[in-house]
Amino acid sequence: MSARVVVLISGTGSNMAALMEAAKDPAYGAEIVAVGTDREGTRGVEAARAAGVPTFVVPFRSYSDRSAWDRAMSDRIAEHEPDLVVSAGFMRILGPAVVGRHQAVNIHPALLPSFPGAHAVRDALAHGVRITGTTIHFLDEGVDSGPIIDQVAVPVEDGDDESSLHERIKVVERRMLVDTVGRLSREGWSIDGRHVRFGRTDTKENR
Ligand code: GRF
Repeated sequence: MSARVVVLISGTGSNMAALMEAAKDPAYGAEIVAVGTDREGTRGVEAARAAGVPTFVVPFRSYSDRSAWDRAMSDRIAEHEPDLVVSAGFMRILGPAVVGRHQAVNIHPALLPSFPGAHAVRDALAHGVRITGTTIHFLDEGVDSGPIIDQVAVPVEDGDDESSLHERIKVVERRMLVDTVGRLSREGWSIDGRHVRFGRTDTKENR
């Protein structure tokens, strides 16, 4: 049986689109059962609707504070009974109500623990690194701080600006995301401290 995956996005949704494409193959092992967002009217949400995937919107400004929004987000996710939540270009920090209840992964356009936060590509360029990349990790209650599942390096080229570098990162990011979500779905995983392993084992942290 396919793993049930809820994808969270805030914008373009090119990573979400790559996942939806991969999930058309029943052998992939994951089914995108819903797409959630904090912003109505984005390209990503429109694309999900056009593909017939259920969507839900939980606007931050409709809630009195962060924890009320976080609880609402957690409840809306839970309605779809996911095995895995994928934050793929979701630009808000998910709090304890989501992270404590759902197994969730996030992609980040830098080689963590370098350059966490919302401006990773800009910060890496400003720092003058020659190699940056992308990371997929499990979410914990910190900012881009959870156990790392996979990383891919991307060299910085002379003359790169934020947009050219981010576009090259996104090409490798989509492959990494599709590969990792497929493996997690088909093989399961275990987390031992900061170390993630594919496959189901008998440890108490087995998922
Ligand atoms: C990705 O680079 C992701 O790592 C970052 O935001 C970007 C989202 O792109 N958090 P898209 O919406 O999937 O096109």
